[in-house]
Amino acid sequence: MSDRAIGVISGAADSDINFSWFRHEFMVDNGLKDTLKSGHVVIDTADKLDQYLYTYGLMIESQWKKVGPLLGDVKQPTVLIDYGCGQGLAGLLLKDLTQGRLFGAVRDILLIEPSAVALARAEALYRRIAPNATVTIVCKRFDALSESDVPDSHAGETLHVFSNSLDVLGFDPLKLLAKTMRPGAHTIISTSHDRTFNGGTPQIERVRAAFDNQSMPFDLTIQQSTLKNFTCDNPSQSKGVVWLCQLEIEDG
Ligand SMILES: C[S@@+](CC[C@H](N)C(=O)[O-])C[C@H]1O[C@@H](n2cnc3c(N)ncnc32)[C@H](O)[C@@H]1O
Repeated sequence: MSDRAIGVISGAADSDINFSWFRHEFMVDNGLKDTLKSGHVVIDTADKLDQYLYTYGLMIESQWKKVGPLLGDVKQPTVLIDYGCGQGLAGLLLKDLTQGRLFGAVRDILLIEPSAVALARAEALYRRIAPNATVTIVCKRFDALSESDVPDSHAGETLHVFSNSLDVLGFDPLKLLAKTMRPGAHTIISTSHDRTFNGGTPQIERVRAAFDNQSMPFDLTIQQSTLKNFTCDNPSQSKGVVWLCQLEIEDG
C-alpha cells in the first residue's frame, strides 16, 4: 500500500520541512501502540509509522532538544550516516536545532534502516533537508551491511547519528562501526531512552569504552567522549542519555 506521506513531503513548501509540521501532519492514534513493542519493532505499514509519531514523537523531540546545546560543538559534516533512521525524525530535528547549519556542507547522506516503508519517508525527508547531497539508502539490518554498501566518500568530516538505535538489541555495534568508519574526522552522536534492559545504556557504554580504550580495529585519536544522562521535558519526563564522541582515524 502506498504511503501518502511521500507525495506530501515532496510537494511541501520549504518552510514546512520541520519536525513540528511533520508530526502534526502525519501523527495518528490508530490503536496500534502495542504493535510497536516500545518502538523497537521493524515497522511494516504507514499506519504504524503514524502511530510511532503519535506515541514516541514528543519523547524523541525532547531528547534531541536536550542534546541541542552539544550540537554547537559539532563541525559541519561532509558525510552524514543515520543508523536505524526510521522515518527520518533525527534529520528533521538536527535541521531545526541547528537552523540548517549541520546540513550546510553535506555532500553524502547514508540512511540504514530495515523497514522499507520507514526508509522511504526518511529518504523523501532527507532529500528536502539537504537537496544538494547524494542520498543513499540501504534497506538492511546492521549485521547484514557490507563495506561496499557504504559510499566511498573522500576523507572529510563524518557525522554518525544514532537516534534510539545504538541501544537496540540484535546487532554488533562495534562490527557495524568498523564497516562504516574510514580515515578522517568523525563525530558520533547517540541519544536514547536511558534504560538498563533490552540493550539500553549498558550497550552504549560498551561502545564508548571500546573507543576510549582504543579497542577498535583502527588507530584513532579521541578529542572528546562524553556520556550524559538527562530528564526530558515531554509529559512523561522520560529519562534520556546522550554519547558524543569526536575522533580522528589515521590513514593507513
Ligand atoms: C526506536 S526506533 C528509532 C527510529 C529513529 N531513529 C527515531 O529516532 O525515530 C529503532 C530503529 O532501529 C531499527 N532497527 C531495529 N533493529 C535493527 C537492526 N538490527 N539493524 C538495523 N536497524 C534496526 C528499527 O527499524 C527502527 O527504525
